[in-house]
Amino acid sequence: MLRSLVLGLGLSSTALACGGCTGTGDVEMVRRARLIQPRMQPDAIPATTGPKGPLPWGQLTFAHTSDTHGWLMGHVKEENYGADWGDYVSFIRHMRYKARKLGVDFLVVDSGDLHDGSGLSDATVKLGGVNGEVSLPIFQNLDYDLLTIGNHELYVADVAFDVFENFAKFYRSRYLTSNVQIMDPKDGKFKYIGRTHKYFTTYFGVRIMAFGVLFDFTSNANNSKIIKAKDMVQQQWFLDAINTSDPIDLFLVLGHNSVRSSTSTFPVIREAIRKVHPNTPIQFFGGHSHTRDFKVYDNSSTALEPGRYCETLGWLALSGIEAGNGKHKPAGVPNPDRPAVNGTTSYLSYARRYIDWNRLSFEYHSDNVRTFDTPRGESVTDEVWNERQRLNLTSLYGCAPQTYCLSCAPQTSELSIYPLVQKALSAVIVNEERKDIARMIFVNTGGFRFDIVKGRFTYDDSFIVAPFTNAFQYIPNVPYAAAAKLLDLLNNGAPQKRDMDREHRSFLPRSVDACPLDGAQFNSGLVKRKTIIRRQEIVTPGYTTKDDFGTDGDDTPHSNIPYFRATNDIVAEGGFPTDGSTPETVDVVFYDFIRSYVLTALAKAGENYTTADVEYYLPPSFTSNDFLPEYAKRFWSKDC
Ligand SMILES: *[C@@H]1O[C@H](CO)[C@@H](O)[C@H](O)[C@H]1NC(C)=O
Ligand SMILES: *[C@@H]1O[C@H](CO)[C@@H](O)[C@H](O)[C@H]1NC(C)=O
Ligand SMILES: *[C@@H]1O[C@H](CO)[C@@H](O)[C@H](O)[C@H]1NC(C)=O
Ligand SMILES: *[C@@H]1O[C@H](CO)[C@@H](O)[C@H](O)[C@H]1NC(C)=O
Ligand SMILES: *[C@@H]1O[C@H](CO)[C@@H](O)[C@H](O)[C@H]1NC(C)=O
Ligand SMILES: *[C@@H]1O[C@H](CO)[C@@H](O)[C@H](O)[C@H]1NC(C)=O
Ligand SMILES: [Zn+2]
Ligand SMILES: [Zn+2]
Repeated sequence: MLRSLVLGLGLSSTALACGGCTGTGDVEMVRRARLIQPRMQPDAIPATTGPKGPLPWGQLTFAHTSDTHGWLMGHVKEENYGADWGDYVSFIRHMRYKARKLGVDFLVVDSGDLHDGSGLSDATVKLGGVNGEVSLPIFQNLDYDLLTIGNHELYVADVAFDVFENFAKFYRSRYLTSNVQIMDPKDGKFKYIGRTHKYFTTYFGVRIMAFGVLFDFTSNANNSKIIKAKDMVQQQWFLDAINTSDPIDLFLVLGHNSVRSSTSTFPVIREAIRKVHPNTPIQFFGGHSHTRDFKVYDNSSTALEPGRYCETLGWLALSGIEAGNGKHKPAGVPNPDRPAVNGTTSYLSYARRYIDWNRLSFEYHSDNVRTFDTPRGESVTDEVWNERQRLNLTSLYGCAPQTYCLSCAPQTSELSIYPLVQKALSAVIVNEERKDIARMIFVNTGGFRFDIVKGRFTYDDSFIVAPFTNAFQYIPNVPYAAAAKLLDLLNNGAPQKRDMDREHRSFLPRSVDACPLDGAQFNSGLVKRKTIIRRQEIVTPGYTTKDDFGTDGDDTPHSNIPYFRATNDIVAEGGFPTDGSTPETVDVVFYDFIRSYVLTALAKAGENYTTADVEYYLPPSFTSNDFLPEYAKRFWSKDC
């Protein structure tokens, strides 16, 4: 309603967002935009395509987030995901009200990974603070019913402690960390960060036993301890919990745990519960693999996973639990209508949806366009905006002339981020004293985490695109014959994903990879042409999810974005002879993170070096997080 009003005033969404670019950071401009559009972040752009139809509601209905990684501002440059945390807070308020009206239970759950991935969570570290010290209090404006912990809460001791001291204390019995402990410095004892489990009865009388289980993560800071799933299910508290004499109508297992990968520990938990309760429904809510997914384990247990980075709100409706007095088929809305497996005689029925995280979706489903914004929602939106300003997150390095994507095109395509990375490395990674010596700069592709989107490339984007802080090291005067073999050796060697990366790259994202194209046969002209045609058809590119229930889960239908894997490493060159001849020797420059791989590969090429041969090429304070901003400052226009 408000949107059509805006359009009725003759202001197109791009006019609000300043021409082809998406916001100016200009305060006056923002103030004017606010008057017309008092919602989302002022620099965000509205979605143009919305949901295919109303959401399903069942006896128990769930909204599910995971892997938000600090994206509480939403994706200000992407129309599909433009809502911010305040819009989400308002939305959930309306959904809670609607659930009561329909006579069903509504639970809101989160599966962890709140840190690492955006400026709102990460920039505070550069100011001497703790990652998440700004973003977690904002997150806490959502009255979650149950939450659990992710591995990104546990890499850094200070972060883990902050979660224990503040976040866990805020959510109290709703924060479940069934297998994660921390050393309390007060007495030197290991304690559960949250609670191990929670037994509760819903408003409409369903008796639930809930757990929160992190996968068997091992790269945690040493002030934390993760109990492996197979050990956890033997612990007395767990046996007591599943064997309690209190009646249990439903098990809820939240987990920072992929619903499908081989590293998931959900099957261990399921087996342990099934030994005591062969038929009680078990509902899993997973995360960690950053995909939209829904998995059926058996005729009364399924698992939902709601993607990443505030791009998706997962939705699950479940009916048929023989308990309580909630409505199994609430009137006037779609109801869950599929058994978990065909042919079962179970009464349980399910429906799942993946909602695009934008204002249009939220307004549409709230039935409440006119008065959508709640006071709490508006104040959260303002707080996010104020913090983004305070942290300088919207400050501009330069205007990206196009979108450079991580995986939508082969890595050699001009649509890909990697040719740009190579250009930037060549231009920026120069040691002044050695600038005339040819150099080959090797970096791992796992260090790049998100697309560079056309338009304003900001301080925030420096965290979003390349959050890690690898220093540039080198070995001087390596025979060119060996250096020239290095890239192939690295790419055929062991994968080099730091644990922080490996988690997200060991899975093909099913939801964007329904039919992977063969990169070798790819013609980049094709993608461009298709994209344009699709825009005209007003089916925008986005998630096209295939899960155990098929292909009808996406709330807003999209055209497919192809997925291409990148090689382990890429190389950029600089200072080569201008006459095209090959140098005798080159400086081999690389991220310190891949040093051991480079040494191994060089040895394979017949050149034995040791760490004693490695020096800093640039001061260690200049890192992988700095070179793209530097490139943008020097080579991109400031007038987006
Ligand atoms: C963790 O490691 C640090 C540095 O090695 C050490 O000072 C600290 O005592 C360790 N903490 C625990 C709980 O083991
Ligand atoms: C559950 O409790 C029953 C009765 O108290 C007992 O016989 C059984 O061994 C218990 N099972 C587990 C897994 O603890
Ligand atoms: C189960 O039934 C649904 C609905 O009739 C159908 O679409 C689906 O293909 C069936 N699945 C299997 C595995 O047979
Ligand atoms: C559910 O599946 C189990 C085996 O996986 C079977 O023993 C049970 O009878 C089934 N229940 C229903 C209601 O279909
Ligand atoms: C933000 O930028 C301004 C102006 O450049 C500077 O004075 C201020 O210290 C910066 N604040 C932060 C938090 O970086
Ligand atoms: C490099 O080291 C390996 C193993 O130590 C040795 O076998 C090889 O001869 C060395 N090569 C050179 C060129 O020094
Ligand atoms: Zn994650
Ligand atoms: Zn994770």
